[in-house]
Amino acid sequence: SAMTTATVNHDGEKLYKSACFVCHGTGAANAPKLGDKTAWAPIIAQGMDTILATAIKGKGAMPPRGGAAKVDDATLASAVQYMVKSGQ
Ligand code: HEM
Repeated sequence: SAMTTATVNHDGEKLYKSACFVCHGTGAANAPKLGDKTAWAPIIAQGMDTILATAIKGKGAMPPRGGAAKVDDATLASAVQYMVKSGQ
């Protein structure tokens, strides 16, 4: 339902702010910045499943799950979705 989606997105934004912003808000370690469409276009082109798998596994300077070791896959996916939306 729309309500469920809103809740999931809220959790994703919350996680983004607590765990991802430190790099993706600032571009630290060359992380693709929130809202940077040029940076996100080639990432988005990979498709959501691949992007989420990378976020779980980590990549380069990014630790697995963005360092949020205890967060569940659904919440992590919501944060990824929040970031992807910003880059569309
Ligand atoms: C890349 C998500 C936290 C640094 C990415 C990508 C996603 C993502 C979706 C693109 C992956 C791809 O290329 O397919 C997240 C989420 C986080 C998080 C959801 C929080 C839960 C962090 C933190 C750091 C970081 C804390 C820095 C310590 C990076 C870097 C890249 C990246 C450097 C580029 C990796 C490369 O292409 O070599 N992140 N991230 N991220 N992230 Fe994060």
